[in-house]
Amino acid sequence: MAFPKIIALFIAFLAVSAGAAPVCDKKRFSSSGLDMSKFPYCDKSLAYSVRAKNLVDSMTIDEKVRQLGNQASGINRLGIPKYNWWSEILHGVSDVGGGSTFDGPIKAATSFPTPITTTSAFNEDLWNKIGKVLSTEARAMNNLGVAGLTFWSPVINVVRDPRWGRTVETSGEDPFVNGRYAVNFVRGLQDVEGYETAADPNSRLLKVSACCKHYAAYDVDQWQTFGNFIVDRFHYNANVTEQDMMETFLRPFEMCVKEGDVSSIMCSYNRVNGIPTCADSRLLSGTIRGDWNLHGYIVSDCDSIDVMIKNHKFNDDTSEDAVAQVLLAGLDMDCGASYPNFLKSTLEKGLIKESDIDKALINNYIVLLRLGWFDGHAMYNSLGAKDVCTKEHIDLATDAARQGMVLLRNDLTHSDHLPLDPKKHKNIAVIGPHANATTVMIGNYAGKPCKYVSPMDGLSQYAQVVYEAGCGDVECKNDSLIWPAVKAAKSADATVIVTGLNLDIESEGNDRSDLELPGYQNLMIRMVSAASKGPVILVILSGGGVNIAEFTKSADIDAIVWAGYPGQQGGQAIADVVYGTYNPGGRLPVTWYEGDYVWKLPMTSMPLRPVDELGYPGRTYKFFNGSTIYPFGHGLSYTSFSYKVISDQRSVTKKLGCNQHCQPLRYNASAFVPPCHSALVEDLRCDDDDMNIQIAVTNTGTVDGDEVVMLYSSAPSGIVDAPIKQLIGFQRVFVPAGQTKNATFSLKSCTALSIVTSSAYLVVPTGEHTISVGSEPDQPNYLHFPFQVYVNH
Ligand SMILES: *[C@@H]1O[C@H](CO)[C@@H](O)[C@H](O)[C@H]1NC(C)=O
Ligand SMILES: *[C@@H]1O[C@H](CO)[C@@H](O)[C@H](O)[C@H]1NC(C)=O
Ligand SMILES: *[C@@H]1O[C@H](CO)[C@@H](O)[C@H](O)[C@H]1NC(C)=O
Ligand SMILES: *[C@@H]1O[C@H](CO)[C@@H](O)[C@H](O)[C@H]1NC(C)=O
Ligand SMILES: *[C@@H]1O[C@H](CO)[C@@H](O)[C@H](O)[C@H]1NC(C)=O
Ligand SMILES: *[C@@H]1O[C@H](CO)[C@@H](O)[C@H](O)[C@H]1NC(C)=O
Repeated sequence: MAFPKIIALFIAFLAVSAGAAPVCDKKRFSSSGLDMSKFPYCDKSLAYSVRAKNLVDSMTIDEKVRQLGNQASGINRLGIPKYNWWSEILHGVSDVGGGSTFDGPIKAATSFPTPITTTSAFNEDLWNKIGKVLSTEARAMNNLGVAGLTFWSPVINVVRDPRWGRTVETSGEDPFVNGRYAVNFVRGLQDVEGYETAADPNSRLLKVSACCKHYAAYDVDQWQTFGNFIVDRFHYNANVTEQDMMETFLRPFEMCVKEGDVSSIMCSYNRVNGIPTCADSRLLSGTIRGDWNLHGYIVSDCDSIDVMIKNHKFNDDTSEDAVAQVLLAGLDMDCGASYPNFLKSTLEKGLIKESDIDKALINNYIVLLRLGWFDGHAMYNSLGAKDVCTKEHIDLATDAARQGMVLLRNDLTHSDHLPLDPKKHKNIAVIGPHANATTVMIGNYAGKPCKYVSPMDGLSQYAQVVYEAGCGDVECKNDSLIWPAVKAAKSADATVIVTGLNLDIESEGNDRSDLELPGYQNLMIRMVSAASKGPVILVILSGGGVNIAEFTKSADIDAIVWAGYPGQQGGQAIADVVYGTYNPGGRLPVTWYEGDYVWKLPMTSMPLRPVDELGYPGRTYKFFNGSTIYPFGHGLSYTSFSYKVISDQRSVTKKLGCNQHCQPLRYNASAFVPPCHSALVEDLRCDDDDMNIQIAVTNTGTVDGDEVVMLYSSAPSGIVDAPIKQLIGFQRVFVPAGQTKNATFSLKSCTALSIVTSSAYLVVPTGEHTISVGSEPDQPNYLHFPFQVYVNH
């Protein structure tokens, strides 16, 4: 059958754009009438960097610029298909961005809990395993032509302010936790077995490409509008000190690049100290590529270049000015059309060199080469529909949701508390706008889940369920549905109230203005709990903390569970925790502030440290010393654990050369001041794990359970501006009832004991640091011990 040549080309093009055959497949070339031997970029004996350069050097300027938007046009003349760089995989393969789709042969993919819930598990292996499963489903979909290979996940911005709408997408308020999440998740997504390291990192194979975003100091979405003054991400200028930048806002990204070896970073919409992040060459070329040595490409948030011109009105830029600034700053890929539309005129105006365009293209193509986009990755060839939504994957989603459940309150002084007993609590009332939640559980940047297990479905496995919504929806605008809910609770053996927030209240482009449950929810909870015959369990679905102060003390409420947004299997996890077939062990990755916290500081204030004179309370557990509803790290179990420090190391000794200086610190008036205050980390040997701490964890109760051991350090007291404490390690250990397990922490003192000074030096203070085990000093198992740093000088 002979097609006219143009149609044959079109068909070949379709086949390729569907992603089925790798670019350098011989058949593709012959069916397009091209001779592959004429294209050295397909020569597998050459290094990726050589192949990428060969390809770029074959292109005309028009062809080049059309490959630099996320919708890369492809070049039929050279056998290059079109490619949409934008796919998302925040907690499941997603169709956001259009690079992946559920319109074809794959109708659904496993939808894991949202990152805030997965983070609450505080289990690094779990984060890595989820990354592996997600990349397997992505590769399977790619084989079928319905997914890309470049995924713009995860989100690793710290939650600086509890009102932030995107908290659900993040790993909470601690930079170290965000960093560890990034490293494990990115390695799960990217690493090909046997290729975890490589002499030349630009030749290291990738399973899929991950992207840590949004760089940097991005955590205002859409807060308020004051007349003409709009506080949203498209206008926001984050004024940030170098100290906060280094200590908080950049740290997760530094870990993502240096330890995760991520292949992409996305710059954000906001400005930092006046400059749009995507146009800041110090932040991009200087820090990411220079200091951290990124192997990969830097991409803009979508339409950032337009935002720079139209919203920020940066320097009254023309399109060409803006395009020149971001290209020269080190931006390799534009999510948008500014590069394709304006790079050529920018070049013609003499604002850039053509070699600047070439560099960006080469960075991008090396990533596609590492992904097998050109050559295929034989080890994944057998993946297909059978590898998506498998039982094993769905079981992992269930396990992740269970591990992420946080038991906030369980009142053991009440005659009834959690877990419920299926023999005693046989008829239950399930109340609340989320009692039958489905889509709410998968949050945003979701795909199509394999199925849903709603809280109702889950609880129905243990009891006869009577359902009353109590509220028309989450906003709960009136009290009309409260009475039927009260009635149901009056006769039930137990009442489970499932309530909270959803994406209408907190999401991308949608910050909260307060921390309250919406509308009549509080009244509903109050009335239903007061009327209930049996115990009352309050289950909260939310990304950020909510002001439930009243219910933490209410005598009518027996237990509170925070379920985050727990993914497609969420209802199963809630039910398993409520009925005790799973013993919860999750911990809060964000501080739950009291309701009035948000009236003490505007969302726009970036500093983390308190300013006493201004009544500025400070942010996150590292700097806020006021009272909370629940602190960072809070979470209960159905059993109890005791800790014992079994390692005997209580000091480290660091050496400074005779030509190196001690670094001065500021101390308060009553502090002991050592002769040598501190040493610069860059002056010290820091490659060894020179701190070894071993904690014996004993399950002193009667049921098996997981315990998250959280280790913090505090700098010697009296150092002005040092954090109250900082998390330096955590481990989730399973300990059978009555048994003991050891948690071993091998740490680098340069990381675990260092602080960032007000002039942005990273130093290790000398003197007596404190190591504490556990997040809450008022818990019976909390312990702490001194740890000395000596500097020989
Ligand atoms: C940031 O600093 C600039 C320049 O000092 C100032 O005009 C602006 O109001 C500050 N923005 C915020 C949100 O504090
Ligand atoms: C719960 O939700 C499912 C799916 O959204 C729906 O089919 C079912 O009728 C709902 N159940 C009740 C009791 O409303
Ligand atoms: C109260 O809320 C319910 C459920 O959302 C709605 O159907 C009803 O119209 C509302 N009633 C009034 C008086 O607004
Ligand atoms: C918090 O710190 C300030 C001094 O910075 C002190 O006055 C206050 O008592 C502290 N509050 C608590 C609860 O420790
Ligand atoms: C000053 O340092 C001492 C310990 O050296 C500490 O006990 C005290 O709380 C500090 N005071 C302030 C105001 O930070
Ligand atoms: C924990 O460590 C101690 C001291 O090293 C050792 O005696 C003990 O056997 C270890 N326990 C377990 C369960 O590994």
